[in-house]
Amino acid sequence: MRCSLNLLVSVMILGAAVAGLAQSRTYNLGTPLSQEEIRAFDFMVGPEGKELPPGRGTAKEGAEIFAKRCAVCHGRNGEGGVAQRLVLGSPGNSHLGPFKDTEKSATSYYPYATIVWDYIHRAMPASNPGSLTNDEVYSVVAFLFYRNGIIQENDVLDGKSLPKVEMPNRHGFVPDVPVYPPDAKKPSWW
Ligand code: HEC
Repeated sequence: MRCSLNLLVSVMILGAAVAGLAQSRTYNLGTPLSQEEIRAFDFMVGPEGKELPPGRGTAKEGAEIFAKRCAVCHGRNGEGGVAQRLVLGSPGNSHLGPFKDTEKSATSYYPYATIVWDYIHRAMPASNPGSLTNDEVYSVVAFLFYRNGIIQENDVLDGKSLPKVEMPNRHGFVPDVPVYPPDAKKPSWW
C-alpha cells in the first residue's frame, strides 16, 4: 500500500514536470527578441509627426486593406464588429461636438492624427501587430478618417499631410494638472 502510494506521488510529480515542460514549449517562454522585433516596438510617433516614416495612402486603398485585415473584428465599415467601433461620423459629416464616453474612438476622439497612425502601426491588427507596411498604415488611417468625415476620399496621407489633419476633438482635452493663476503661490515641485 505504502509502496503504491509512493509510486502514485512520483507519477504525479513526473506528470506535473512534463506538463510544465509542454506548457513552456507551447508559450515559447524565454525566447530572446531579435533586433528587428525590438525595433518594431521601439518606435513612437509624437503629436507633431516628425518621426513619421516615408509612405503614403488614400481612403480607396485603405478600404481594401480594411476589408482584408480589420473588418473581421471591427465590422465591415468600422462598426458593428466584436471589437471597438472605429467610425462615428460619416463621409462629409464629421462627428463634431461633445463626445459621450460610449462614443470614443481613436479615429475621431484622439487629439492628434499622428497618434492614430502610431497606434495602428504598433498594435493592429490585434491578431498580428506590426505586420502592416507603412503604406498600408497610411491607407487604413486615410480610410478611417474619410469614413469619419475628417478628410476627403482622394486626400493623400503621408508624413507631411497627416500631421496637418485637424482632429474633430482636438480642443476637447484639458491638461491633467492644476492650472494656477499667474500670481498664485505654486507648490515647490511645480
Ligand atoms: C483580431 C481582432 C482585431 C483585428 C483583426 C483588428 N483589431 Fe483593432 N482592435 C481590436 C481590439 C480587441 C481592440 C481594443 C484593444 C484595446 O483596447 O486594448 C482594437 C482597437 C483598435 C483601435 C483603437 C480603438 C479605440 O477606440 O481606441 C484602432 C484604431 C484599431 N483597433 C484599428 C484597427 C485596424 C486599422 C485594423 C486592421 C489593420 C484592426 N484594428 C484589426 C481587435 C482587432
